[in-house]
Amino acid sequence: MEQKIKTIGLLTSGGDAPGMNAAIRAVTRMAAHNDWYVIGIESGYQGLLDKKFIPLNSYNVRGIIQRGGTILLSARCPSFKTQEGLNLAVKNLKEANIDALVVIGGDGTFRGANDLAQLCDIPIVGIPATIDNDIYGTDYTIGYDTCLNTVVEAVDKIRDTASSHNRLFFVEVMGHEAGFVAINSGLACGAEIILVPEQKNQMDKVRSFLAERAKSNKSNLIFVAEGVEGGAMAIADKLKDEFPQVSIRVTVLGHIQRGGSPTSKDRIAASEFGVAAVHALMEGKSGVMVGYENGKIHYEPLKNAVKMHRQVDPDFIKTAESIGTFTPLD
Ligand code: F6P
Repeated sequence: MEQKIKTIGLLTSGGDAPGMNAAIRAVTRMAAHNDWYVIGIESGYQGLLDKKFIPLNSYNVRGIIQRGGTILLSARCPSFKTQEGLNLAVKNLKEANIDALVVIGGDGTFRGANDLAQLCDIPIVGIPATIDNDIYGTDYTIGYDTCLNTVVEAVDKIRDTASSHNRLFFVEVMGHEAGFVAINSGLACGAEIILVPEQKNQMDKVRSFLAERAKSNKSNLIFVAEGVEGGAMAIADKLKDEFPQVSIRVTVLGHIQRGGSPTSKDRIAASEFGVAAVHALMEGKSGVMVGYENGKIHYEPLKNAVKMHRQVDPDFIKTAESIGTFTPLD
């Protein structure tokens, strides 16, 4: 396709993720190198409907690579799921002379982009950024590494107090539908049991662990992804009465997992994805998401990224748990 782009729109949407700012910077600078203007759209798709546009340039994205959150702000936008919302978005894009769009976010963001792509003919490219790391078509999403490190740092502290009191802690981490954060941070923290949404009916396993554990009176960590059995609090409430001899505590890490200065891995991934997104537009690509496949930049059709779901490998769950527990011979 002959390249006719002069101005690109750029937005961040859905749950924020550390490294979004690094991606904003990379897209803006790469576009500027190509003599394109960049219009930042504040608060995701809501800002597109409300015409919250701000000019971005190489200069005003300086000093943000190390900052968590997103300078463009983010939001979830229910009206973007309606026909009226989508029509208004197309109209506003036209009026602002935006002739290509880069969206940074997770699966909800890409669903919005995919719906919009059916109605307008401007090229749209997605950049995956979510601490959940659950997007089909990429091995990695921006923010995931920072999130894992945040969890590990916090849980190492919990471990100190857990072992001082021989307590069993249920630690709840984010992930409604995917257990990537739980499984990998659980492994890195030496958790005995890790409960992820991909595996159903795990309560018997937890009960027999607690029954054994009641005899040994050691400190333990059980990681729970928030989407499992109503979360860590609900699970602990059920078990406290059944196992009164076990001293149980619960920590819900919550939104601390979404904040913080991005790790070098996230800054690098965000920068590479940002550059690749602009390259995609220069090459006339549209309706694709930038990602990594085996460490290399890869373009996945957006329609696949929204149709399919990336899930934790069951073998990896076994690996993580197998080294979390000790055997009776120890
Ligand atoms: O960003 C993804 C995610 O953190 C999920 O793991 C979590 O369930 C959800 O967002 C919570 O988001 P919010 O509180 O912004 O609705």
